[in-house]
Amino acid sequence: MRIGIIGAGHIGGNVAHQAVRVGHEVILSFSRDPATLRAFASGLGDRAAVGTPREVVASADLTVLAVPWGVVGLALEQAGPLDGRLVVDTTNQFGSGPGPAPGQTAAAFNASRMPEARYTKSFNTMTSGFQAAVAGRSGHSRVVQWLCGDDEEAKKVVAGFVESLGYAPVDLGGVADCAVMESPRRPNAVYGEEYRLADALAVVDAVRAGRPIPPTPAYR
Ligand SMILES: NC(=O)c1ccc[n+]([C@@H]2O[C@H](COP(=O)([O-])OP(=O)(O)OC[C@H]3O[C@@H](n4cnc5c(N)ncnc54)[C@H](OP(=O)(O)O)[C@@H]3O)[C@@H](O)[C@H]2O)c1
Repeated sequence: MRIGIIGAGHIGGNVAHQAVRVGHEVILSFSRDPATLRAFASGLGDRAAVGTPREVVASADLTVLAVPWGVVGLALEQAGPLDGRLVVDTTNQFGSGPGPAPGQTAAAFNASRMPEARYTKSFNTMTSGFQAAVAGRSGHSRVVQWLCGDDEEAKKVVAGFVESLGYAPVDLGGVADCAVMESPRRPNAVYGEEYRLADALAVVDAVRAGRPIPPTPAYR
């Protein structure tokens, strides 16, 4: 696949590394310092290129939005029309900028900022360092990468991509159902925690039934 990255920092940079490692192409964009971005891309090798956010969105099979919350609006402005384009939102609501209404998830809020996109959310619940360290684990120790969104076909594509990077994709539901995968870290939420498949499926069951999720698992 050709993976677009808007914001190649901790999260976007890690997704780019993992994507190239397993054979995807990446196109990186959105930096205040184009020379640094070019240097980062060249360190990733032949399968990496740089472009503008608009070029990224136009040419990628899916685009990973990995920018600080306060510049999501600017990044979307630079990305231009998103008609039918598949976007994976990795952002968490920290710092400045417009935010969700009371009771609205950050995913629902961001989806409403790009209504023409095929919106999904993933890669947001664990630190970039942890994600980098655990990508590619096998068997029962494979780590879950949560995702949500209202477009079932888009989620299937994102799940395939997540799996190709060496995580276990688990679909939590629609953008209105994913509060447990959003910040802050707290009891009864998966945000900030490691999950493996069996425990994650119990979480999905609880969320679908409107019950509190089971206690956070601990792994040796
Ligand atoms: N870090 C984590 O562990 C983590 C975990 C889960 C989710 N997230 C979420 O993922 C998103 C990205 O976080 P991150 O830690 O990857 O951020 P980051 O390391 O600061 O990367 C942000 C990227 O955006 C680019 N950028 C372009 N214009 C910018 C501007 N005006 N201000 C700031 N950055 C600008 C930066 O490029 P230049 O610096 O080259 O300009 C950089 O590549 C956030 O919404 C965060 O909440 C982060």
